[in-house]
Amino acid sequence: MSAVFVLNGPNLNLLGTRETAIYGTATLADIEAALRAQGERLQLLIDFRQSNHEGDLVDWVQEAGGKGAGIIINPGAYTHTSIALHDALKAVRPPKIEVHLSNIHARESFRRTSHVSAAVDGVIVGLGAEGYGLALDAMRRLIDKVRR
Ligand code: DQA
Repeated sequence: MSAVFVLNGPNLNLLGTRETAIYGTATLADIEAALRAQGERLQLLIDFRQSNHEGDLVDWVQEAGGKGAGIIINPGAYTHTSIALHDALKAVRPPKIEVHLSNIHARESFRRTSHVSAAVDGVIVGLGAEGYGLALDAMRRLIDKVRR
């Protein structure tokens, strides 16, 4: 069974202590554990990764394009800057969902632009760590639709 790649960008390794009023107190390990449990219920394998480096994320999107069932991505600040991630996501076929813990539209103006949103099937913003779980539920349905 191929896995849903859950890709996390820069500074998300600091969740739990980073600007907790904005991002909450759940750590990335907490989010991973919750997704793995949910993945078992949904019969989805989870390949969960984090990197502070743009090229790693591009490599992983390409890898998921070759062997992944789907991509859930929180690109962190690369959301607002990375044409390379946009292009990589455009180039691959599995269903793709962008997630942000915070509501990027209600913060600084530089966060309102996402280069990623135009390259994915759907976007979940502002619902905290729960957004990842909502994305996984939606991913189950997207994968089933693709297979039909
Ligand atoms: C974020 C929002 C980005 O603007 C920010 O750079 C992050 C986290 C979020 O999950 O809310 O690192 O992607």
